[in-house]
Amino acid sequence: MYAIILGAPGAGKGTQADILSQEMNLPHIASGDLFRQALEARTEVGLLAKSHMDKGELVPDEVAIKIILERINQPDCASDCLLDGFPRTLHQAEVLDQALEERGKSIDRAIYIEVPNEVLVKRLSGRLLCRTCQAAYHIVNSPPKIPGRCDKCGGELYRRSDDKEETVKERLNVFFAQTLPMLDYYKKQGKLIKVNGNQEIQKVTEEILSALRAPISS
Ligand code: AP5
Ligand code: MG
Ligand code: ZN
Repeated sequence: MYAIILGAPGAGKGTQADILSQEMNLPHIASGDLFRQALEARTEVGLLAKSHMDKGELVPDEVAIKIILERINQPDCASDCLLDGFPRTLHQAEVLDQALEERGKSIDRAIYIEVPNEVLVKRLSGRLLCRTCQAAYHIVNSPPKIPGRCDKCGGELYRRSDDKEETVKERLNVFFAQTLPMLDYYKKQGKLIKVNGNQEIQKVTEEILSALRAPISS
């Protein structure tokens, strides 16, 4: 199964993809995480991506496409994967389809996690992430058992530099202007499923799991 998890910044893409990848035994591929790893490794791509991410804007299509295609060409993605944060533009969606088609595959489902704007802002302002395994926490909604430490791996928790108020505003603007229109591409193919992301994490997971297991309607 090839599935895409779509949603605005803070919608819970990473949180859900992390749970689902364990439940369904699928690799979780997150474009944002790939860029942050590239930055930690001080690669050219990482430094270039940072200059865009810090402004809340998208990294250029060709850079995002290259990093994702390299990753999904790895053997663990030969027959399944869960994409988080990619595609974000119509061009990315079309290139992804072409790449999958070349190996006789296609996207099975595009899940859109819908959350009201004011909730998104609250979530991002309290988010903490594990530097080692990328697990997401929230200082109020889902705090770690030991402050500053990841429950799963003991890694250090940090705040993302693009979670500053001004950058969050811009990320939301960019989502509504550049990514939301792309949803139509999957809607026309009968692959888009909307889930209510403004409920408990576990409830959202249940909705997504039943959407992934349901037969395609069109
Ligand atoms: P990326 O890393 O993908 O960031 P994003 O899309 O802005 O989304 P986030 O990771 O901030 O949110 P999320 O939906 O994963 O939410 P999370 O689960 O953490 O991209 C970063 C940047 O990289 C982009 O701005 C762009 O520059 C670049 N980029 C990436 N992909 C690109 C592409 N394809 N093309 C071009 N550029 C690209 O949850 C958020 C918080 O809420 C957490 O604290 C969590 O604990 C909490 N939470 C989650 N679910 C719930 C719930 N149900 N109830 C209560 N709290 C919850
Ligand atoms: Mg994320
Ligand atoms: Zn961790």
